[in-house]
Amino acid sequence: MTVSPLAPGWLSYPADANALRPQMWARDVSRNDGGELEISGVPVSTLARDFGTPLFVVSEADFRARARDFKDSFDAAFADLCGGVDVYYAGKAFLCTEVARWVAAEGLRLDTCSGGELAVARRAGIPGAALGLHGNNKSDAELTRALDMGLGRIVVDSMAELQRLGTLAASRGERANVMLRLTPGVHASTHEFIATAHEDQKFGLSMAADPAAGGASPAATAVAAALENDGIHLLGLHCHIGSQIFEPEGFEIAAQRLLGFLAEVKAVHGVELPELDLGGGYGIAYTEADAPRPPAEIARAMAAVVGSTCAELGLAVPRISIEPGRAIAGPTTFTLYRTGTIKTVRVDTDGGGTSDRRYISVDGGMSDNARPVLYDADYSAVLASRASEDDAVMSRVVGKHCESGDIVVRDVYLPADTTAGDLLAVPGTGAYCWALSSNYNYIARPPVVAVRNGTARLIIRGETEDDLLARDVFASNQPETPEE
Ligand SMILES: Cc1ncc(COP(=O)(O)O)c(C=O)c1O
Repeated sequence: MTVSPLAPGWLSYPADANALRPQMWARDVSRNDGGELEISGVPVSTLARDFGTPLFVVSEADFRARARDFKDSFDAAFADLCGGVDVYYAGKAFLCTEVARWVAAEGLRLDTCSGGELAVARRAGIPGAALGLHGNNKSDAELTRALDMGLGRIVVDSMAELQRLGTLAASRGERANVMLRLTPGVHASTHEFIATAHEDQKFGLSMAADPAAGGASPAATAVAAALENDGIHLLGLHCHIGSQIFEPEGFEIAAQRLLGFLAEVKAVHGVELPELDLGGGYGIAYTEADAPRPPAEIARAMAAVVGSTCAELGLAVPRISIEPGRAIAGPTTFTLYRTGTIKTVRVDTDGGGTSDRRYISVDGGMSDNARPVLYDADYSAVLASRASEDDAVMSRVVGKHCESGDIVVRDVYLPADTTAGDLLAVPGTGAYCWALSSNYNYIARPPVVAVRNGTARLIIRGETEDDLLARDVFASNQPETPEE
């Protein structure tokens, strides 16, 4: 056993590098008797043979179970307060028609944030009433599409959008179902949150008093305008305070602030708005450092705060909704890579010595997982094609792109005998990986397979070279040069 001085503080030397930490993996992932990783009884070597690598492998049972768990837990916690909760799966985390159907079958609604996501929902046969639409800069075409589809809610982000939507809907003799997105002055991120008076970000209507408007906040001005607008049916208020959040305080403060605002609306306008959406943002385990809370625990904490705050304010409890994305999709999926070039470099350590770091290149990278580059996100990895009894050594899993920052897993202990041709699996890649994937370096986006009851099936096919060239106007006119 060699503990590396290069290891970050949160990373411990693994007692068993073959072990799978349950909170990071779909529940039907395990090692078989031969030591190979399998999902629902399907070995990763079979998946690699049949679908190639890199490959997103999603457990359908785990996805559905996580969706159901959110719905059941929140329904149970809020049953006595407001009869239950509407759970909108945040499609931005990972969406395709099959996933939209899973979500609907488990009793959830779907949160979209573009015309494209609405198109997926439509192809999946999701009724408009079960859809929400977000976005800080929706086009008229997107708003029109939302009205055409009879959307259950359009989450309006600004005063200008409210006016545009009101005019559009009124011109059709309709009223659009609207939630107003407010910024409650709470920023939350992982283990930290800060509550301030003001928000410095692009989304939503500020709740802070605006001296230029006689002290009325943009949120208060928008509510007054919405209530007077013939094209708007104002359902309620919305907030979303951040992502990958583990501590409940940020959600609780946001809920208290929005409920306080609902009480002001009641006092000023004599109207009790019937709905309140508290957004998404629930954290998941990417590494051993992350300790997510089960949905039932989060739901109970939020219900306690909503119940007591409404009682203090003399408000009827509004119908609550939430929008989890990552916490449903993230842990259901791992990415399967094939290893290639491996090299070891000697690195200066903080203590004045040197230590070895092994670079293990895989056949994907920042085009299938942009999060490490975008957010410095940490991931984990295991040797998947076999178990190994070798010592684990400090390793960095890197992609094949022309960027030195193309890192998949920054710090991980992997068996010293990991070699070219092995399969590696990176868990927790179900959210914001395929969704953020790109064709950088003309690398084709990988397929997604769903595994259930021992059967794997494609739900998104991988791109081909023809796909990569399909939109290049001149390439499609040219005869191919024969390969020498
Ligand atoms: C408005 C809104 N709702 C829900 C979500 C989903 O967040 P998460 O995937 O962290 O649950 C996001 C993510 O950016 C969001 O912007």
